[in-house]
Amino acid sequence: KQEERTNLYELMGSANEFYQRQLRYHDAKQAAVDYLKNRGLSGKAAKFFNIGFAPPGWQNLQDSLANDDESLAAMVTAGLTIKNDQGRHYDRFRNRIIFPIRDVRGRTIGFGARTLGDDKPKYLNSPETPIFNKGQELYGLYECRQIRQPLKRFLIVEGYMDVVALHEFGIHYAVATLGTATSDTHLQKLFKIAPEIVFCFDGDEAGRRAAKRGLELVLPIIEDGQQIRFMFLPEGEDPDSLVRKEGKDGFELRMQDADGLSEFLLQTLKDDIDDPASLEGRARLAKLAAPLIKNIPGIALRSLFWQDLKEHTHIDVDELKQLAESEAKP
Ligand code: UTP
Ligand code: MN
Ligand code: MN
Ligand code: MN
Ligand code: MN
Repeated sequence: KQEERTNLYELMGSANEFYQRQLRYHDAKQAAVDYLKNRGLSGKAAKFFNIGFAPPGWQNLQDSLANDDESLAAMVTAGLTIKNDQGRHYDRFRNRIIFPIRDVRGRTIGFGARTLGDDKPKYLNSPETPIFNKGQELYGLYECRQIRQPLKRFLIVEGYMDVVALHEFGIHYAVATLGTATSDTHLQKLFKIAPEIVFCFDGDEAGRRAAKRGLELVLPIIEDGQQIRFMFLPEGEDPDSLVRKEGKDGFELRMQDADGLSEFLLQTLKDDIDDPASLEGRARLAKLAAPLIKNIPGIALRSLFWQDLKEHTHIDVDELKQLAESEAKP
């Protein structure tokens, strides 16, 4: 088992080198180079993130890395090669920009791959493998730690391009989940390194939904000493597009305005209440918020959340706690 893992790390490392070589030397590289240029990516950033190119064609990687049945089988396990019903093998990533995903030790464990055109899906990701667990890994984490330690903050964004663009503009603390939702494992991993996490999803419906999922994820695990905030972007923007318009300072200024956890919680609940200032509206807010606050593990934080809810509802903390008890019963 350990031997298999060692082999997979080696294989992924070789694939990483292969893709980077193609971006420099392959006959069809110009389309990829132009694409990256058009998106404003510098050669320096491309190099820092080990960005590569999977050329068009069905067997480029396979021809370069597999020399027997055993190594071909390993490529399937690594998610680099796909075996079809007829038993033929073909490269998973074709004619795409390659973003290697590295673990904290810098070993390549997976790839994200963007089409150069409008092919679907826009991003194709490595599948889960014995060395690649999407619920644990974050794109850009290794790179963040190369630049500066200790880190005081992480910014969680949606996309590979967001991480790379922010880096290019001097924001070296952005990480992205890998086409999956943020998990508590992700958060625990980041909190071991830095005390503050800012969520920054795209300014669209999907982004706002992701922020609410983040809220539900965070409330039952947040501890005293940890800080979580939520940053919202203008409609239609993502961190990549916004930092290119507003620069590092503009972007960080917006970050200063990010909502605190309590603010975002109460605002989100109020959004679903017709008249949140009315007596009935405040009662409803109390009823919705109390069971969530009750489950916050950080003692000081929980106490402060009760104070906040009291201010919004004008209900005593003791009564809010009673309400939480009765709401918690099935
Ligand atoms: P977006 O559609 O917001 O991508 O998806 P983006 O990074 O802004 O894309 P471009 O390159 O600027 O157009 C955000 C993230 O969701 C995952 C990827 O991780 C992507 O970076 N995703 C998106 C997929 O896994 N598959 C997809 O087909 C689309
Ligand atoms: Mn989006
Ligand atoms: Mn986006
Ligand atoms: Mn984008
Ligand atoms: Mn506010």
